[in-house]
Amino acid sequence: MGGWRGILGFDYGVVQAPLGPDIASPELVAAVANAGAIGLLRAPDSESPDVLRKLIARTRALTSKPFGVGVVLAFPHEKNVKVVLEERVAVLQVYWGDYPARLVNQAHELGVKVVHQEGLVALLPRVVDLASEHNIPVIAAGGIVDARGYVAALALGAKGVCMGTRFVAATESYAHPTYKEKILEMVETEYTNVFGRARWPGAPHRVLKTPFFIKWRHLSPDETEVDQPIIGHSTVHELDKEIRRFAGTAPNEATQGDIDSMVMYAGQGVGLIKEILPAGDIVRMLVDGAQLIIQQQSLDAVS
Ligand SMILES: Cc1cc2nc3c(=O)[nH]c(=O)nc-3n(C[C@H](O)[C@H](O)[C@H](O)COP(=O)(O)O)c2cc1C
Repeated sequence: MGGWRGILGFDYGVVQAPLGPDIASPELVAAVANAGAIGLLRAPDSESPDVLRKLIARTRALTSKPFGVGVVLAFPHEKNVKVVLEERVAVLQVYWGDYPARLVNQAHELGVKVVHQEGLVALLPRVVDLASEHNIPVIAAGGIVDARGYVAALALGAKGVCMGTRFVAATESYAHPTYKEKILEMVETEYTNVFGRARWPGAPHRVLKTPFFIKWRHLSPDETEVDQPIIGHSTVHELDKEIRRFAGTAPNEATQGDIDSMVMYAGQGVGLIKEILPAGDIVRMLVDGAQLIIQQQSLDAVS
């Protein structure tokens, strides 16, 4: 099945999102790459070229397949991008900011493909029409967790899909076990800016409607995480961190404290996620399932 619905030189048009701050572990990215899909590491939130180089090296020790790195342009990133280019990582994904054509060309000259992320889905066919005029392949993201979502996105003209929440609940993700369990248990999410307001202003996000979130969802607009009590500790990309109430740091495996009161990002497809699965199985189920649906639809159409 190699080459089926391939994109950007990968076997499959399936992307594992660069889950911040460090949920997209080298283990997760390598497992996705080994399954023929596009795995994206997440660059640290500060200039940390050495840490990023180590993440890339650890991933390369686990896979000989290509993979990428996601960089959030809202945070200091120039040195991190330099590492992505120097290391000739296959894909540079950029988010939350402009990435000028000059820099895209520079990356292309080094053989690094650049993927830009914007919120989509409802607008998908229109974006596909606009992008096709410029020969730009579109990857759909948001609420896709299984083969049905993959086929729907392909039907609307996308060349691939990017999944975040589904891969948080992968065996290899670096999310805290409680965060993974909550993704299996919970079905409701809400778009909010309660978490991480001071550190990343103007960046609302979708979170699980946990009891903690329900209690605080109408938080007064002048409150931020800055003066809140410390509810836990973690290590993120080798930096020790105190986690205050309403911080934007999702719990990773190293996090200790009141995990239930920490932010848990999740998309609208969360109700469809019932098991923690190895990332390779997630990719295979998506690709094989999509083929089955397409074959079945074609048979139904002629019968
Ligand atoms: C825990 C988590 C962290 C994320 N971190 C990033 C990030 O650092 N950069 C980015 O471009 N997108 C990030 N995303 C968003 C994904 O790229 C993707 O757009 C989104 O997860 C797709 O929706 P889905 O979760 O319903 O699959 C994150 C998503 C989650 C769930």
